[in-house]
Amino acid sequence: MATPFIAGNWKMNTTLREAVALVREMRGELARLDGVERVLCPPFISLAAVSELVAGTPIKVGAQNLFHEQKGAYTGEVSPLMLRDLCEYVIVGHSERRACFHEDDAVVNRKLKAAVAAGLRPILCVGERLGERESGRAEEVVTAQLHRALEGYSDAASLVVAYEPVWAIGTGKAATPDMAGAMMALIRRRLSEAFGDNPANGIPLLYGGSVTSQNIRGFVEQPPVDGALVGGASLRAADFVEIVRTTAQVRARM
Ligand code: PGA
Repeated sequence: MATPFIAGNWKMNTTLREAVALVREMRGELARLDGVERVLCPPFISLAAVSELVAGTPIKVGAQNLFHEQKGAYTGEVSPLMLRDLCEYVIVGHSERRACFHEDDAVVNRKLKAAVAAGLRPILCVGERLGERESGRAEEVVTAQLHRALEGYSDAASLVVAYEPVWAIGTGKAATPDMAGAMMALIRRRLSEAFGDNPANGIPLLYGGSVTSQNIRGFVEQPPVDGALVGGASLRAADFVEIVRTTAQVRARM
């Protein structure tokens, strides 16, 4: 079984001062929990401060994006080389990047490869839009996203995959645990085809989309779901700690 895994995606929220306050608020309790990989993904400008605040604890840090080149004349971009001194993980292909910044699967593929080349662990996001689910194409869409994102990618040991149906993100309308479990089982099969059973079984699979401290249990009780990528609720210290605690409790019994 893959390691239970909870990541908090703060998105474009928190000033530097707010990020520091949020980490200070949750750091103690979060560090004391056991058996779950827990990752905070603040905005770029807070990465250094957050990394320093969690140094020496089991809390890990991730970035929300990266550029696919390691250095050069790309004004305004942040490279994998810069990130690897500050964090271990990086979110790649979030649906907001796909929708607002026109990132397609080819871009996602380049970013994934650039991330692992620099020693970062990518959290690859996939997920269908509402119309795609309603027309019965969710599995086909997710399969195609995975296939294109992972073309020529071989580092299963570094990979984390998050299934985030676009219609569930920030809407308060989470997928049902059954729906998430079914899609995760499909994703696990596709990863087995790509990497073989053993490496694929070690890849943490996260559900994302309106996860809260109230609904996390239902998701992590589904065996194919190893954890969650949490947006809104990760900005509330008590909620995020509770999500990690519940995951630890449920997985310790499985
Ligand atoms: P949400 O966001 O938890 O606020 O729905 C999840 C995400 O976008 O990763």
